[in-house]
Amino acid sequence: MSFDRSLKIAPSILAADFADFGREVRAVEAEGADWIHIDVMDGHFVPNLTFGPPMVKALRRHVRTVMDVHLMIAPVDPYIDAYADAGADILTAHFEAGPHIHRTLQAIRRAGMRAGLALNPGTSVEVAAPLLDLCDLVCVMTVNPGFGGQRFIHSQVSQIARLREMIGDRPIHVEVDGGVDATTAPLVAAAGADVLVAGSAVFRGGSVDDPSPYGTNIRAIRGG
Ligand code: DX5
Ligand code: ZN
Repeated sequence: MSFDRSLKIAPSILAADFADFGREVRAVEAEGADWIHIDVMDGHFVPNLTFGPPMVKALRRHVRTVMDVHLMIAPVDPYIDAYADAGADILTAHFEAGPHIHRTLQAIRRAGMRAGLALNPGTSVEVAAPLLDLCDLVCVMTVNPGFGGQRFIHSQVSQIARLREMIGDRPIHVEVDGGVDATTAPLVAAAGADVLVAGSAVFRGGSVDDPSPYGTNIRAIRGG
């Protein structure tokens, strides 16, 4: 997986059919997804619960692109090896998940994955400065994490631009997650994001039996 800053659309399977994830992943990749974004929630760090390492491992054989695993859990460290074993390409932990994010990012890389740092809307991107050299990706949340289908928080656009400036020419992806659709995507892309996570805006209108709307939606988010 080599680094490139071209625009990538990462559908979040949080908006897919939970009883049919394997076929959903294959369908959305066939319709043009660049990465697959997997939202892991623990009912503790965020007020919602999704799934854990066995489900992610089962999904691995369906993902042909990049498996981008977003952990909304605390603590993170006891589960890092399980997500490495599950086959995550990128493992993202929240800055807010505990007092030792520096150690967590080191441990993710040591386990053989790319390390991501996610920042809630209430967190200044400036906190990423001492951590950037441990990061392969920084995810700027444009909703409060926990649920799909929430409204995009516009004040995060200037934080994305600031983060992009802080990164300079380092090979670090800027990911944006939450409320991304065909209207908000151009704003975050212009601010310097290269990975756009989108759940409801990708999966709406389609299904595994009729996946062509996924492709239409992805193209609309990409900008036609
Ligand atoms: C929110 C998750 C997002 C979510 C995005 O906690 O991290 O990945 O699925 O969903 P939409 O695109 O519907 O806002
Ligand atoms: Zn996410």
